[in-house]
Amino acid sequence: MSRIIRIFDTTLRDGEQSPGASLNVEEKIQVAHALARLKVDIIEGGFPISSPGDFEAVSRIAREIKDVTVAGLARALRKDIDACYDAVKHSESPRIHTFIATSDIHIARKFKKSREEILGMAVEAVKHAKSKLPDVEFSCEDACRTDRNYIVQVLTAVIDAGATTVNIPDTVGYTTPPEFLSLITHIRQNVPNIGRAVISVHCHNDLGLAAANSLAAVLAGAGQVECTVNGIGERAGNASLEEIVMTLRTRRDLFDCETRINTREIFRASRLVSTLTGIPVQPNKAIVGANAFAHESGIHQDGVLKDKLTYEIMRPEDIGWSESSIVLGRRSGRHAFKTRMEEMGYHLGDEQLDKAFERFKKVADQKKEIYDEDLEAIVEDEVGKLPPIYALDYVHVSSGTHTIPTATVRLKHGDDVLQESAWGDGPIDAVYNAVDLVLKMDIALLDYAIRAVSKGKDAMGEVTVKLKCKGHVVKGKGASTDIIEASAKAYVNGCNRLLHRQDTASAANGERV
Ligand code: KIV
Ligand code: ZN
Repeated sequence: MSRIIRIFDTTLRDGEQSPGASLNVEEKIQVAHALARLKVDIIEGGFPISSPGDFEAVSRIAREIKDVTVAGLARALRKDIDACYDAVKHSESPRIHTFIATSDIHIARKFKKSREEILGMAVEAVKHAKSKLPDVEFSCEDACRTDRNYIVQVLTAVIDAGATTVNIPDTVGYTTPPEFLSLITHIRQNVPNIGRAVISVHCHNDLGLAAANSLAAVLAGAGQVECTVNGIGERAGNASLEEIVMTLRTRRDLFDCETRINTREIFRASRLVSTLTGIPVQPNKAIVGANAFAHESGIHQDGVLKDKLTYEIMRPEDIGWSESSIVLGRRSGRHAFKTRMEEMGYHLGDEQLDKAFERFKKVADQKKEIYDEDLEAIVEDEVGKLPPIYALDYVHVSSGTHTIPTATVRLKHGDDVLQESAWGDGPIDAVYNAVDLVLKMDIALLDYAIRAVSKGKDAMGEVTVKLKCKGHVVKGKGASTDIIEASAKAYVNGCNRLLHRQDTASAANGERV
């Protein structure tokens, strides 16, 4: 029987450390549900002591997400471990993941301590975590630059102290497959009590080797791989979940290992993470990139038409990328809509369903074919967001060659209707300037991205913006078949978030905006 490799997903912790990827609690819950549908073994929901938001996210994931182990990260400090325990304790299967750096450079420069002191801290941390929970993971940060004899000493001691998983991170993405294979083999051969713990690996992608290194570790006997959806994460990211899982599945002949992942949920999870973090998936990204299953050359197309196996090593449907996912159209009723939403994993309350359905009808009037991606964009756009302070009521632009782009925008604010016109460098700039005039806010647009969420000339466009005002940075999203409207919605959505942030900050200082 093949070995089962545990998939430890850290999209919500290390993944969320990607520059600009911060998710709010509601967004984290949505991702956690997607991870549960994928059937990952462990969800690392965050770093509870790092912020109240992270604490709340981990504790809500622990309460709400079933049939999965929920882990939180903690430095090798009692206060971190206590906070982590408080956040994960309501899970059916809670885990404390504690770590300390073991490489000489980290020990000397970061901690200014000796190896003995670090060893003592690691053991104390594991003992303290173990006094709270049976499931304790310990990580030697920067393991790949750590002296091998010292790693053996630390791992032996933490396993004796009660660690049930020992994680070997390539924190700086420095190792290579043969070197990592040899390190894991060394650990298996030299840590006397290694049989009492699962060996885990956690690879960063600075040299583009994260997935290859993780797979080399599996060949050497690692039983858990830490990874993220779309490979997002600190700097160049982490090993990508979809690459690890699909390699183990496609090359079972080489690895003789399996995961419990429901691969048909991969594509949907990838899209959700990309939409919510605002980090696009590069078109040539393995497994989930837009071109991953696109055959351009005539010779390839001819081969695929004769027999897909000539050029396809996986089927798009294996990752849930269904070519024939046209599901609904303008004549579809509320019942069909609700059923499809539920099939897609969205269990909406009556009010949310009404809103989403109303929006669906409008889109269906403009667009012949409604794909799952369109439905996802509708739900993202209409459901689960903060109550809007301002709502876009009307937008009109005039632009073209030799014309100064101008825009008129009307926003609703309770019963008030506010309207302004402005010009700009282009139609979208003009729209944003008009919104700024209505809101009397000084907003910097840090980032703007647009993508088609489905196929065809009439595809829904989804716009993501990143805005900054008074030190707050937020994302805004909007979707429409009209890209100007999608851009305006994204901007107004971001402004609402800024206003909510400022409101919270001023309330904390006892003032009102
Ligand atoms: O990269 C790393 O070393 C980590 C640890 C905290 C596991 O993310
Ligand atoms: Zn990491």
